[in-house]
Amino acid sequence: MTEVIIVKNQDEAGSIYAQRVARLIESKPDCVLGLATGSSPLAAYRQLSALVKNDSIDVSQVRGFALDEYAGLDPKHPQSYQSTINRTVVEPLGLDPEKIHVPNGNLSTISEAGHAYDQAIEDAGGVDIQILGIGTDGHIGFNEPGSSLASGTRIKTLTEQTRIDNARFFDDDINQVPTHCITQGIGTILKARHLILLAFGSGKAEAIAETVEGGISSFCPASALQLHRHATVIVDEAAASRLRNKDYYKYSFEHKPAWQGI
Ligand code: F6R
Repeated sequence: MTEVIIVKNQDEAGSIYAQRVARLIESKPDCVLGLATGSSPLAAYRQLSALVKNDSIDVSQVRGFALDEYAGLDPKHPQSYQSTINRTVVEPLGLDPEKIHVPNGNLSTISEAGHAYDQAIEDAGGVDIQILGIGTDGHIGFNEPGSSLASGTRIKTLTEQTRIDNARFFDDDINQVPTHCITQGIGTILKARHLILLAFGSGKAEAIAETVEGGISSFCPASALQLHRHATVIVDEAAASRLRNKDYYKYSFEHKPAWQGI
């Protein structure tokens, strides 16, 4: 079963993620983190960087792979996912930028870039913990509704809804939001050993209910998490508000032995 943890706020969610990742880095210093952009993981990255500093955790060997990148956007553009990952993850955590990878959205090489990216993840031994956000339409990475649940990293067309949602990062101007992206596929994401999906706010409530309690369908790409052996969904009350089994998730988490972790 996908484990659902209902928290008070983003900081509490971030702290659960940070403790899990800190334990991983201590036991496997060259672990591979799967990284996401967007607003949902920001508190988690903040908490992790605070923990890394307070506990003097050595992150010099940590490797990472981001989920996605806009197609045709200069990597130096402040809203490229390359810049975003540098700003929100690499710099605050003090990671080695050489060890952190983002899909290459350069249009001249994009048709081969997906396969090369999947190969690079495999060569690194696979992703240990993948953090995920979710779109209001149920997308993970940029796998929009209808994406194959077996897909590898490839080019996708963004839906208009995703471009509307992301216009806030582009001066509220949808015309500045690229129409295409390169994204890890759902099949790629499912290969990570542990998936941690974070969602906050009532805008995500329907997507979360579909993900956890709906049928597995490419029309809610995140519902593929139900196929994964170790998936954790961390949500606030608002994002949990449409879950039918909410009381059971709370009961399970409250009675979970501390040694079990997530
Ligand atoms: C970002 C990504 C997207 C976002 C999703 C939610 O790398 O892959 O799937 O996680 O669009 O975005 P936020 O967190 O901004 O609501």
